[in-house]
Amino acid sequence: MAEVGERINELRQELRKHEYHYYVLDDPLISDAEYDQLMRKLQQLENEYPELITPDSPTQRVGGQAAEKFDPVVHRKPLLSLDNAFSLAELQEFNRRVSRAATAVSYMAELKIDGVSIVLVYQDGILVNAATRGDGLVGEDVTNNIRTIRSIPLRLQDNLPRLEVRGEIYMPKSEFLRLNQEKEEKGEKIFANPRNAAAGSIRQLDPGITASRALAAFIYDIIYIEGKEIHDQQEALNFLKQQGFPVNPEACYCTDIEAVYAYSQGYQEKRHDLPYEIDGVVIKLNSMAEREILGQTAKSPRWAIAYKFPAEEKETRLLAVEINVGRTGIIAPTAILEPVSLAGTTVSRASLHNFDLLREKDIRVGDTVLVHKAGDIIPEIIKPIVEKRQGREEEIEPPGNCPACGSQVIRFEGEVAYRCENINCPARLKESLIFFASRPAMNIDGLGPAVIDQLVEKNLVEKVDDLYYLNEADIAGLDRMGAKSASNLIQAIADSKTRPLYRLVTALGIRHIGSKTARILTSHIHDIDKFSQINEEQLMSIPEIGPRMAESVVKFFREPRNQETIARLKAAGVNTVVAESSGGLKPLAGKTFVLTGTLESLTRNEASEKIEALGGKVSGSVSKKTDYVVAGAEPGSKYNKALQLEVTILNEDEFLNMLE
Ligand code: IVH
Repeated sequence: MAEVGERINELRQELRKHEYHYYVLDDPLISDAEYDQLMRKLQQLENEYPELITPDSPTQRVGGQAAEKFDPVVHRKPLLSLDNAFSLAELQEFNRRVSRAATAVSYMAELKIDGVSIVLVYQDGILVNAATRGDGLVGEDVTNNIRTIRSIPLRLQDNLPRLEVRGEIYMPKSEFLRLNQEKEEKGEKIFANPRNAAAGSIRQLDPGITASRALAAFIYDIIYIEGKEIHDQQEALNFLKQQGFPVNPEACYCTDIEAVYAYSQGYQEKRHDLPYEIDGVVIKLNSMAEREILGQTAKSPRWAIAYKFPAEEKETRLLAVEINVGRTGIIAPTAILEPVSLAGTTVSRASLHNFDLLREKDIRVGDTVLVHKAGDIIPEIIKPIVEKRQGREEEIEPPGNCPACGSQVIRFEGEVAYRCENINCPARLKESLIFFASRPAMNIDGLGPAVIDQLVEKNLVEKVDDLYYLNEADIAGLDRMGAKSASNLIQAIADSKTRPLYRLVTALGIRHIGSKTARILTSHIHDIDKFSQINEEQLMSIPEIGPRMAESVVKFFREPRNQETIARLKAAGVNTVVAESSGGLKPLAGKTFVLTGTLESLTRNEASEKIEALGGKVSGSVSKKTDYVVAGAEPGSKYNKALQLEVTILNEDEFLNMLE
């Protein structure tokens, strides 16, 4: 036991070191796979010896249930904000005020990170609380969310009796773009800027959602410390770094206000090259003793000031609105602008995101508009300058039909996006095919994005169903496609005709209908032709089918273009029915299964039902008599037992294949 404890400690230290190198220093020492392996080892040992789990273990970042609300946290002392300066003259004025009270003035100039202010409390070196700033006096307890941010240490280098620090949680520009793109693809509202995105992510009641977003942090202030004396800001930043905190590397010691100004000017240019957004520079008197002398006003310290950068916004004219269909079928407006130079580039197009936003902001063609770059990258219209209207500006309406294929445009309840639901729409075709051929769908081996690209470019496939009318000669001429691979591909396409119906329903890429829902649907509806006759009410009477899914199914099958596709798939010999149970054949008869971990496409109950329907037995514990252990995500100790007893372990895909 003591040995296990030691091994666990070693693994944790090792993992902490790698987290620090990866997330704080941005300089990994090992590959992701090696890191995952270490993490799995630790996880396995902790599964076996749950009594040895401690809250500061690297395995414990995401845990616990979603909260109902955030508890209030009263700050030790009010969290101040900063006065602003907008010019050299205002900076000099600040310097004069400081110099009147303090002697031997020197400053630390730091970047003003555009994020969310946070307080972290460490007791005996362990993170015990994290709170938002709130109104400065009382914040919200967001500990479980902050724990998911990998660059925030759960344990400090030293076991200081108590340390309270302040910093900024931010969302890197790249993550902001990724998240908004994901939201746009889901038809959801997007975040206006990385700061809102960071704030929204921290205020999630479910820490799992926070964990799914790559938030980051910089810590810049010691609010309270026991067991160590800190004399100036430079020492504070070094100490924070040494304790394992992410500290912004751009901070600079300046001996006079001119150096501070030069630093600020420099970053006004360089800000666009940084991977995170800044909205200015914070100038702090270096010496703690001199800070005491200067004191504070009700709201802000007299020893610090924020030099705010001017907002990067420009006026230009909205010449036209182009309507595009994205690769997933979302129909979105794009602004065509009179070219204008903005934040380092010339901007002539801007994303308008969705038609709701256009209406909310009342943007019209011909308007003079104010533009900026969201996340420092994506040009956007902030608002029209209504005073400059001439009266000839035109309102913009969403189209009734898809500009790429003419299908009726659809909008789902609760979504902002308008969509084209024609699986064969030329704008969507490549994406439709990639999904159609993918493993959870028709699982056509060898039909990946590179081949699909060529099939579409060469007009060999203009509709998804054309796949089943291809012959070897058609595809033998494609790049990197020899005679053998051509015949293999044709065979793989032919083999896919006999897939069970739920796979075909999945492959159609119907909104909100993944493979799990497709299985539920086809366990009640045994023939694809019935799908076009069924209404929303009937669909909703099927357990687990909600109104959004029902609406989506009905809209998909009502589109004549989709009906045509299904008819052609059927004509090509693709299976469109659920085969009736072949005289009570029980292929799993006599086999015992044990389930562990979470499966993606089935609940445990569903998995058990399927096994039993095919004649198998499900047991709660692993023994030598167990035939198969089905391991989902984060398997428990049954997994280790299976390894020990050398029982065959199946992953989810292998298990699903067995059920077919
Ligand atoms: S110092 C008393 N340093 O800017 C010390 N603040 O307007 C106050 N901020 O609420 C904060 N980067 O959220 C400080 N390097 C930095 C900062 C920073 C961003 C934020 C902070 C504060 C706001 C002040």
